[in-house]
Amino acid sequence: MHPMNTKDHFKLGLFSANCSGGLAVTKIDERWGATWEENLRMARVADEAGIDFLLPVARWIGYKGDTNFHGSVLEPIPWAAALLAATQRISVFSTVHTAFNHPLVTAKQIATLDAIGGGRAGLNIVAGWNQPEYETMGVDMADAHDDRYGFAQEWCDVVREAWERDEIFDFEGKFFSLKHVEALPKPTGGRVPILNAGSSKQGRNFAGRNSDFVFTIVGGPEDGEGIVQSVKSQAMADHQRAVGVLTLSHVVCRPTNDEALDYLNYYAEENADWGAVDYLMNLQGLHAQSFTKEMLATMRSRFAAGHGSCPLIGTPDQVAAEIARYAKAGFDGMTLAFVDYVGELEYFAQEVLPRLERLGVRQPLSAM
Ligand SMILES: Cc1cc2nc3c(=O)[nH]c(=O)nc-3n(C[C@H](O)[C@H](O)[C@H](O)COP(=O)(O)O)c2cc1C
Repeated sequence: MHPMNTKDHFKLGLFSANCSGGLAVTKIDERWGATWEENLRMARVADEAGIDFLLPVARWIGYKGDTNFHGSVLEPIPWAAALLAATQRISVFSTVHTAFNHPLVTAKQIATLDAIGGGRAGLNIVAGWNQPEYETMGVDMADAHDDRYGFAQEWCDVVREAWERDEIFDFEGKFFSLKHVEALPKPTGGRVPILNAGSSKQGRNFAGRNSDFVFTIVGGPEDGEGIVQSVKSQAMADHQRAVGVLTLSHVVCRPTNDEALDYLNYYAEENADWGAVDYLMNLQGLHAQSFTKEMLATMRSRFAAGHGSCPLIGTPDQVAAEIARYAKAGFDGMTLAFVDYVGELEYFAQEVLPRLERLGVRQPLSAM
């Protein structure tokens, strides 16, 4: 069974380890470098520990500041190919921008990855939001937001047809006119799990229609519960599809709460790369008038600590209890990010995973 299709098991993945800094916008010398050797070590530790999936970010220019956060990024397709070959059971996603990649090339790349991994590949589709990257690429980011998703829909239709149709076919759409399409090999089972992180109305609609897992950014389990329900019920009402809902987090887990808070303060307050944080937040439109001063202050810290993701900070008991709250709120899983995706992941695997099994949130590796 594909590792993303297991039931009664809160899925855990690692996000953004292919990017310098990971999710931590910090200047500390020991920040994540995202070298290949580090990524390979991370993937092997994650695979052995029973982490369910690896999710990369596709990024083409950095976020400036003193460190040029995300300035160095391993490209997701070759990254996934090598990691699938080096691991046994973990699912490895690739993240692909619809506007920068021809859908027939992507369809074949993902089918190839699925063959390399024996049915463990996944696809994360990005419809685009980062205007400066589009300028770098010389691609017009369709000014109308809806048209961007119109293009993404057709792109997705081409990929799906390439995977599902056995005969040679033509495709005639608004953006693509394709003749005599042949697409072999096919992925195992005709498709791979699709993930999408659109957060606008159109984005959520696109995700409900096309993806198996919808990624949403939430404040915490409290507001998350309502968001999970609305994403799931909207996908069912509009597209008769059951979708899983995932969110993202950053983790600082230490033997004592004080140690965890001290480390958080060290990397994400005293040594935050505030130039990059502000540039990133500006790009994401978070400096809108509707945010109060207090909200901006909290979000600013959250951006430094983990790119605006939810905090999992404290002892192994506290971190496990907090993850259990997300499971209880209805999420199907979440991603984790660490300052050090190897050493801190080992500690998490040793201390937090067994607690999650005891809490009934996750199945032991032997039961999967
Ligand atoms: C988990 C996750 C992964 C994402 N991965 C990428 C990525 O790799 N590259 C990128 O440019 N945007 C990425 N995004 C941004 C989203 O794909 C999306 O474009 C953004 O949330 C705006 O969506 P909207 O236009 O529907 O509001 C990611 C977002 C999340 C939450």
